[in-house]
Parts: sequence; C-alpha cells; structure tokens
Amino acid sequence: MTTLLINIKELLQVRKTNVSKVAGNEMKHLPTLQNAYLYIVDGTISSFGVMADIEIASADTIIDCTDKIVLPTWCDSHTHIVYAGNRAQEFVDRINGLSYEEIANRGGGILNSAKKLQETSEEELFTQSAKRLEEVIQLGTGAIEIKSGYGLTTDAEVKMLRVAKRLKEHYNFPVKTTFLGAHAIPAEYKNNKDGYMDLVIHEMLPKVANEQLAEYVDIFCEKGYFSLQDTERLLKAAQSFNLIPKIHVNQFNAFGGVALGVQYKALSVDHLEELNQEDITALQGSDTMPVALPSCSYFLSIPYTPARKLIDAGLPVALATDYNPGSTPSGNMNFVISTACIKMKMTPEEAINAATINGAYAMGLSETHGSITQGKAANLIITKKIDSYHVLPYAFGNNHIDQVLINGRVM
Ligand code: NIG
Ligand code: FE
Repeated sequence: MTTLLINIKELLQVRKTNVSKVAGNEMKHLPTLQNAYLYIVDGTISSFGVMADIEIASADTIIDCTDKIVLPTWCDSHTHIVYAGNRAQEFVDRINGLSYEEIANRGGGILNSAKKLQETSEEELFTQSAKRLEEVIQLGTGAIEIKSGYGLTTDAEVKMLRVAKRLKEHYNFPVKTTFLGAHAIPAEYKNNKDGYMDLVIHEMLPKVANEQLAEYVDIFCEKGYFSLQDTERLLKAAQSFNLIPKIHVNQFNAFGGVALGVQYKALSVDHLEELNQEDITALQGSDTMPVALPSCSYFLSIPYTPARKLIDAGLPVALATDYNPGSTPSGNMNFVISTACIKMKMTPEEAINAATINGAYAMGLSETHGSITQGKAANLIITKKIDSYHVLPYAFGNNHIDQVLINGRVM
C-alpha cells in the first residue's frame, strides 16, 4: 500500500535525523518544508521533500494538499480516557460555589468516578472509552497514554488497564498504559492510608506487572492524597518490576515531588501548576520531561504551568490533555495548543514541538512518532486550507483539521 501527499503548502516538524525531544531555545524552532511531498509505504513515512525534487511517479492513493498544511499527529502523553459515566453534576456544583477540594472531601471527585467504574462491566467500559478514543483521533491525536486510577480495587484497576490494552489492539493504535492505583484513598481506607498503600504495592502492582498491563507507574503526590513518603515507597517497589514513573505532582502544592520524581528517573512529571525554583533546578540536567496540562487549569480555574520559566531555564515542555471526568472532560489537543499560546505565552512553534515530539518522548514513543522522519509511523494531520500554521492556535475553538491518517490510512 502506497500513498503520496503532493503540493503540501507546508510540511511541519521535519526532522531528517531524529531527535528524541527539544528543550529550551531549540523549542522556538519548528523545521518545515514548503511546497512539499510525502510518500508513505505500508503505513510508514518512506520519503519526503520539496515538490521540485519529487521522483515518485505513482501511488495507490494520491492526496492533493494544495493550500493545506501537513504535520505529525498530536502525541497526548497524559490521559485518563478509560472511565465510566461523567461528573457533570459536580461541574454544576462548582459553578454554584463548591471547590474541587470540597467536592472531593464529600466523597465526590475521584471516589465518585471509582464507584461508577466498579459498577460498570468491562464491555460497557470498553464501549464508552472507545467512543472517546475515536473522537480524539478525529481531533488529530495519533498516540495516547492512558492511566488507570478510577478503579481503586485490584479487580477494577485491572479492568481499566485491560480495556486500555484492548483499545490499542482493536484500533492498532499507539496506546501506552500507566498504573495509577494510588490516585485517591478509597472510603474503606479513609483512616488507613498505609493499608491502602500495602494493597497497591503488594497486590495490585505485582498483578499489573505480571500481566504486563502497564509500562509506567503513577501516583497523585498531593496534599490530602499521597505524601512524598508514599510516593517514594511506591516508586521503590515499582523499580523491582521495571515500571517507570510518570507522576502527578505540583497540581495544588509544591513540596518536593518533582525532585523525588527526578531521583527515581521519572520519564515525566505532570501538572506543575505550582512550581518553585527548587523544582526547576531538580529538572535541569535530568531526562525527565515536564508536562503541562492547560485545559485542566482552564477547567478548574487554577494557575497555568509556568512554561515560559521552564523553557527559559533551558528545559523541555510537553503538552497533554489530562482528559478525565473530573478536572478535564476534554481530549482536544487543538484547544490545549491554543491555550498554551494564549495563556502560557508559548509561541506556536514551541506549542507544536511540545505537543508532537516532546509528547512522544513523554510516553517513550519518540523513536516512532512525533516528527516527520523516514521510518516513523505515517500518523499525520492534513489541515483544511489555512494561511499558515499560526492559525492553528490563533483561531481557537475552530476545527482546522481536514483529514487524519493513522499508519497511512485515512480515519
Ligand atoms: O490529573 N489530579 C489527579 N487526577 C486527575 C483528576 C482526577 C479527577 O478529578 O477525576 C487530574 O487532574
Ligand atoms: Fe491526570
């Protein structure tokens, strides 16, 4: 199967030699080719260049991209898309004055989602989650990370991860899975957090690892949820199962979670709405990717991750959705990119780098996804006719996507 894209107005994120991530000043640079072609063989990028140099005469499918821009699909490295039902009622409660914290303290929040999920069959959970995955693919997402964490019992956590794995197989789509058993303390363990940590570490973790249900481990390291001690205990235990940390830190409070993540060689530290100089210093010289989730900040009206500070300190930044029923009921990476530019003062080039190659890095996929590089998967966005790629973040809330290709196939 061969597909040839011709007359591409501008081909974005062109990396002849692959890079695994871009940091600091490099993030300002988005390499592109104007008036380009791209040739796909069996789902993989085979070659690309300027139209003047094209040597391919025919293909099974030819797509004319006149006045359209082509770029790698978004790499969404932080989601919770496997969940049951929704929390629209809590959304209304917040409008009427309750805080996210107050709702959680009343047994709402994550525990509310966990109750719903425990009562939902695996089949039904698959159906609800598949619908979400199909929607985000249409919005340009071409690789995704999915966390557990709305189960909070061994059976329900395993159920979530099985559904995530089934999504990967059913859609032949790049899905990376993360075990987030330590997402909240179930009501039965209200006064026995250590007892719940024992369950997570001695029962859930070995089962998840033995069934190869996850590659990464996560914990909600936050006041009122899990402490630095809990986090260290989990990350230590996870090491013996070769699960790599990707952790929720600094959403509401900064108290050393970033440095701990770096110490345990976290692939990413995510949220970072509250960030201090020690956190930045800890990240410098590490391989850990800071991940910002601006649509969570938007939905909860909390501060935005200070991406400028991170980038100006020479660090990389990745952007992801955090798609989940409580703090971000949206999986739209286009909105994330716009919000990053509008609210976090990232340039369009920085935001696109953050949402493609750096997102791929944050889920261990930068060898195969996140840039236009020979041999990488042909997961591509073809835009509608637009003046320039600046329009993508600029005209926020509009749909600029004409077609999405996954492994070279139009979705
Ligand atoms: O990433 N912060 C922790 N977990 C999710 C939201 C949890 C929820 O409210 O359901 C997040 O924002
Ligand atoms: Fe999250």
